[in-house]
Amino acid sequence: MMVGGWPEFPLEILDETALIQSGYKFFLANNEVACQRAFHLFGHRSEMVRNDYSLTKEFMARLAFCLINQKGGCGKSSTCFHLAGAFARLGYRVLLVDVDPQGSLSQGFLGSDIVENLPATETLAALFDESSFFLDHRLLVHETSFPGISLIPANQTLAEFNTPKPETTGMAQYAIRELLDLQEAFDIVLMDCPPNLYQCSWNAMLAADYVLIPVPPEDFGTQGLRAVHQAIDQARRLNTGLRRMGHLVTRYDRRLLVHRSYEERLRGLYRELVLETTVPEASAYKVSLACRQPVEFYSAKTPAAGIMRTLAEEMLRRAAKKEEQRSVG
Ligand SMILES: Nc1ncnc2c1ncn2[C@@H]1O[C@H](COP(=O)(O)OP(=O)(O)OP(=O)(O)O)[C@@H](O)[C@H]1O
Ligand SMILES: [Mg+2]
Repeated sequence: MMVGGWPEFPLEILDETALIQSGYKFFLANNEVACQRAFHLFGHRSEMVRNDYSLTKEFMARLAFCLINQKGGCGKSSTCFHLAGAFARLGYRVLLVDVDPQGSLSQGFLGSDIVENLPATETLAALFDESSFFLDHRLLVHETSFPGISLIPANQTLAEFNTPKPETTGMAQYAIRELLDLQEAFDIVLMDCPPNLYQCSWNAMLAADYVLIPVPPEDFGTQGLRAVHQAIDQARRLNTGLRRMGHLVTRYDRRLLVHRSYEERLRGLYRELVLETTVPEASAYKVSLACRQPVEFYSAKTPAAGIMRTLAEEMLRRAAKKEEQRSVG
């Protein structure tokens, strides 16, 4: 029997020694879907129990999130950057995928000079370029200087592939999905999308388990969010496993009445599809980003770092709950 489990589900280890000797993972969980996914993702890996890694985390199926909003400057890249630090500190192995030709996330880790000069073959653009079809995709994954965080970078070379009407582009729509299928060494994937709903965001939605929608509490036109939800509905026709993680209020200033009323209105409209955690406008996020360190690594004791850890935990909790619903529904 080879099955898997989620952090909040009871796990029973049958025989740890036998586990290690057999080169397989034998354990029990009470969730069929999670079991199947964990088996698919981890069942064939021979590396077993590592001392620095809790069993529940080891056996968790990989979760892929994309951060989408066609509104610019709402905190997609910043949230990805700092969330990666929070997940890594919690013990998860994080793969960041920069799906934005602006390359902001990549620049956050590597600096703008390096990112601008990266050849397309070492970036996400290689996936879309027919002349790169035979490249070893493992070359796209760059280590960062932070334990547990790897990055597939992007730069301006991705721009020519970020075309409108992605649903007409055949197999190119699944480029990121196929790439992720080859990445077995990660627990959490975070994809940072550009401020539009073209090929790059579409590809990310077809590769993701969950969409997280960062919203600044000032954008009163609901038109933008409606387009995001329509795009998610369309993507779900091709990726039936895609779920809405919800809206994340970002850049929030509790002192401003306009922000408080926006939040209230958003919660009234979308109810449980608004995360409890809100990300405040805080200089710690900007300063640590400028120093190229997720706030968790720059100053773990600040409230800003604590909020990112709370957000990461809420995302895991919500995902576990949705997986449970999937298995009974
Ligand atoms: N919570 C926050 N507190 C303070 N500054 C923030 C916060 N979130 C984002 N910022 C800053 O706001 C600017 C825009 O944020 P970011 O680049 O993350 O937005 P984005 O949604 O990724 O933009 P784009 O759509 O252009 O990709 C950046 O300078 C970032 O450092
Ligand atoms: Mg961005």
